[in-house]
Amino acid sequence: MIIGCPKEIKNNENRVALTPGGALELVRRGHTVLVQTGAGRNSGYTDEEYVEAGAEIQSDIESVYARAETIVKVKEPIEAEYSLIRENQLVFTYFHFASSQALTEAMVKSKAVCLAYETVLGPNGSLPLLVPMSEVAGRMSVQEGAKYLEKPAGGRGILLGGVPGVPPARVLILGAGIVGTEAAKMAAGLHANVTIMDINLERLRHLANVLPANVTLVFSNEYNIRRELPRTDLIIGAVLIPGAKAPHLITRQMLSEMREGTVVIDVAVDQGGCIETCHPTTHEDPTYTIDGVIHYCVANMPGAVPFTSTLALTNATFPYLLQIAEKGWERATEENAGLKEGLNIVRGEIVYREVAEAFEHLVA
Ligand SMILES: NC(=O)c1ccc[n+]([C@@H]2O[C@H](COP(=O)([O-])OP(=O)(O)OC[C@H]3O[C@@H](n4cnc5c(N)ncnc54)[C@H](O)[C@@H]3O)[C@@H](O)[C@H]2O)c1
Repeated sequence: MIIGCPKEIKNNENRVALTPGGALELVRRGHTVLVQTGAGRNSGYTDEEYVEAGAEIQSDIESVYARAETIVKVKEPIEAEYSLIRENQLVFTYFHFASSQALTEAMVKSKAVCLAYETVLGPNGSLPLLVPMSEVAGRMSVQEGAKYLEKPAGGRGILLGGVPGVPPARVLILGAGIVGTEAAKMAAGLHANVTIMDINLERLRHLANVLPANVTLVFSNEYNIRRELPRTDLIIGAVLIPGAKAPHLITRQMLSEMREGTVVIDVAVDQGGCIETCHPTTHEDPTYTIDGVIHYCVANMPGAVPFTSTLALTNATFPYLLQIAEKGWERATEENAGLKEGLNIVRGEIVYREVAEAFEHLVA
């Protein structure tokens, strides 16, 4: 099979969908790998490393799309790429169709096969191609929080872990899923005083057995959140209700109960955020302040740490890519029910229910 890996062109996207290690595995099995020049640069991989692995470097994006049977990417195609995608070509990437009508229309029109990372299912109903990015964002949320808590950054001027004789900062984490648990581990490791809240009692029970003693597990409700606000230094929003907007657990009015210089890292911003005053920001301009509370709401946090995120993502995606290369997408999805769930659009037909429901006018 001919597999093409273009350079990501979405603003500030530094990840690459295939590492030289992945290219080597594919080439060894007799496949042809095309990599656009510079595709791996921002993740630490040179063109020479891909060539050493047996890949062919292509000087422009057009030739990657023109020759490849399968395109492997990180972010959804942007407008400049729509016309490059060909009938019957398989595109394996994050799409998030429900949030973009233009992308959905373009992919229906292209008659390509769109296999979306975000809907591939793991054996236990998990989302194996979303988990690694939640792990990155969860861990990163604490280091971003620590940074903005410093006085010159506008924060209260408190060190997360304190020092002997001085109490640590208090961290409140809303949601104890992947993001929340990774955040709790990092904050606890820095010796902060951590409270993590969730509505899933089974989850709280499990975490009580595995998280250290400086993490307190509390059932999430308005009363318990309100009690924490006046004494919390850093809040991390990590709530998810699948398929729905995140609930606003902290309303605009509740900001007045928080101290000046408190920092909120709302990781759930991509689902609307769990603080009412959240709106998406970028890595160039990540924060804004309302009522003295610093808001950090970057919607693609993992993009800032591509050396880590590329490996975390490709560790998870590569086994699927290999199945596709070895069997072709039709047999690979036939034999792997979880991978089949990734099929969103097949040759002009929307086959994923939620996407079809979101764009009924595109369904034949
Ligand atoms: N900003 C970014 O760059 C970035 C990166 C990765 C993930 N995310 C987002 O972070 C969010 C969390 O992702 P995840 O993988 O941890 O999800 P997850 O499903 O693993 O965890 C979500 C948790 O929220 C809990 N929850 C639901 N309602 C709640 C409530 N009222 N109070 C407290 N907890 C509640 C659920 O029980 C669950 O444990 C998602 O919106 C995800 O898209 C953002």
